[in-house]
Amino acid sequence: MSALIEARNIHRKFGKGDLITHVLKGIDVTIEEGEFVAIMGKSGAGKSTLMYQLSVLDTPTEGELLVNDTDVLTLNEREATDFRLQTLGYVFQDYALVPDLSAQENVMMPLLMRGDDWQESKDTANRMLDNVGLEGKYPNLPGELSGGEQQRVAVARALAGQPKIIFADEPTANLDSISGTQIIDLLTCLHREEGQTIVMVTHEPEYAEPCDRIIYLEDGQIVQK
Ligand SMILES: Nc1ncnc2c1ncn2[C@@H]1O[C@H](COP(=O)(O)OP(=O)(O)O)[C@@H](O)[C@H]1O
Ligand SMILES: [Mg+2]
Repeated sequence: MSALIEARNIHRKFGKGDLITHVLKGIDVTIEEGEFVAIMGKSGAGKSTLMYQLSVLDTPTEGELLVNDTDVLTLNEREATDFRLQTLGYVFQDYALVPDLSAQENVMMPLLMRGDDWQESKDTANRMLDNVGLEGKYPNLPGELSGGEQQRVAVARALAGQPKIIFADEPTANLDSISGTQIIDLLTCLHREEGQTIVMVTHEPEYAEPCDRIIYLEDGQIVQK
């Protein structure tokens, strides 16, 4: 079984000349299919930046990156978008839902963007919303849902396309502990029962407990703990 993510010597610098910030300083990461991996470290350590590289939302300044056997650094914009829609799912700290679209439409959107059939997308969206306990909330706008419910819509949206990997950047950071635990339980259940591969950034050691492995970042480098 080959690894789902193979990252070698990843560097990410921002800015130019004297104002250059060297955020990631030579990261090597391998993530196998079926793993639930936590990325931890202090604020500013580079966790989000690393997540953006691994999840093909940003491009490293230097390094090699294979995701699902694809050399993602050779993809053009359009190919990268298509790759994300086909292969990856995202959950962000701030939910990142479209405010003017219903819960159902938010979940349908990435499916429609990749060209899936409308009715099929709608059926999938409903099934996904049911799975996260939001049956009866299909027509609600994000503003008509609690934070925990909005994040569950985001999880449903991330899962709708049957991604190979789910990336979650501090998915519980804006939630109370009950809603936060619900989100972690959802992800844990997906991992244990469906073998879903998940990469999650978290601050909370408690939330990293169900993970198979923790990657600690310090000042843009992986440290052993
Ligand atoms: N687009 C950017 N331009 C300049 N600096 C950035 C950019 N993104 C992140 N950084 C810097 O990189 C460092 C790590 O940021 P980040 O990856 O968000 O950390 P974490 O998620 O661990 O809190 C911070 O010092 C941040 O200011
Ligand atoms: Mg961050």
